[in-house]
Amino acid sequence: MRTLRTIAEVRAALAQPGREGRSIGLVPTMGAMHDGHLSLIRRARQECELVVVSLFVNPTQFNDAGDLHSYPSDQRRDAQLAAEAGVDYLFAPPAPEIYPPGFATQVSVGVITETLEGRHRGRAHFDGVATVVTKLLNIVAPQVAYFGQKDVQQAVVIRRLVRDLDIPVRIEVCPTVRAGDGLALSSRNVRLSADERGRATALHRALVLVKDAVLAGERDPAAAIAAALGELARAEIDLDYLELVDADTLAPLARLEGDVLVVIAARVGSTRLIDNALIHVLSTTGTDLVSVAAAGSQSNRRS
Ligand code: PAJ
Repeated sequence: MRTLRTIAEVRAALAQPGREGRSIGLVPTMGAMHDGHLSLIRRARQECELVVVSLFVNPTQFNDAGDLHSYPSDQRRDAQLAAEAGVDYLFAPPAPEIYPPGFATQVSVGVITETLEGRHRGRAHFDGVATVVTKLLNIVAPQVAYFGQKDVQQAVVIRRLVRDLDIPVRIEVCPTVRAGDGLALSSRNVRLSADERGRATALHRALVLVKDAVLAGERDPAAAIAAALGELARAEIDLDYLELVDADTLAPLARLEGDVLVVIAARVGSTRLIDNALIHVLSTTGTDLVSVAAAGSQSNRRS
């Protein structure tokens, strides 16, 4: 694996493979790698001839300076994990390489960035994500880019911007990787104390309770989340939102049908966690066929 620090180095390294028509897969990350990141890298390794991982803690997407400065970082460990996973190029630029003096352009994706995470973190968060991802796609020019279902709103925003800006890349959204007790892996989990780590499992239990309610035939969103709200209160989880939304538009649903997302965000102590589960509610004549792509409880199970 080669580590590249500049855009010119990336372009030089990828020019020849590009001319030869070799497929390039990009996995954008902010480092602090865990099995969730590695699952995206493994998928890219299976599907593409060259795998590029970017490692850049993007300052413009942090709404809180404290969160940016305390964001976990260990580039040597990340480089080792990436190399072991078969990455060809690690692109780890310094901040001025991405945002040189005079940088002024913002990519802003509209209403889907204003709900859920946008409401809680501010619009600037998704402007920051959309702008840096657009730059990474332009720098690397991959055929495929890989993102996690764990950050579902981010994936929806990126799909939208790629379509709107005619960027010739396929966006693959990969299943959420979880710990054995259901907690979605996240770089921020290291900040949880032992007690908080225990209480954080309530997020996953809440998603399963919503899923179970829908499986039992509940079609009213407020009723479907009622039991989950009780579970979160018992674990003393400080809830930001628990909502049932349309999987494509992220709009709230008055009645549950089609592809439905259960999305949750909560603070456990001072750490903010997000998670979600996709539910396919298929209506046929008279009967509802429900299949749920949600979390189970084996180790590193995916949802
Ligand atoms: P980061 O939080 O490092 O995540 C990098 C990628 O890993 C994202 O696509 C994220 O959805 C995915 N991921 C995180 N946890 C996961 C899990 N438990 N299972 C599966 N995939 C998981 O997301 C970002 O960085 C940044 O916003 C970025 C896209 C790099 C732009 O700066």
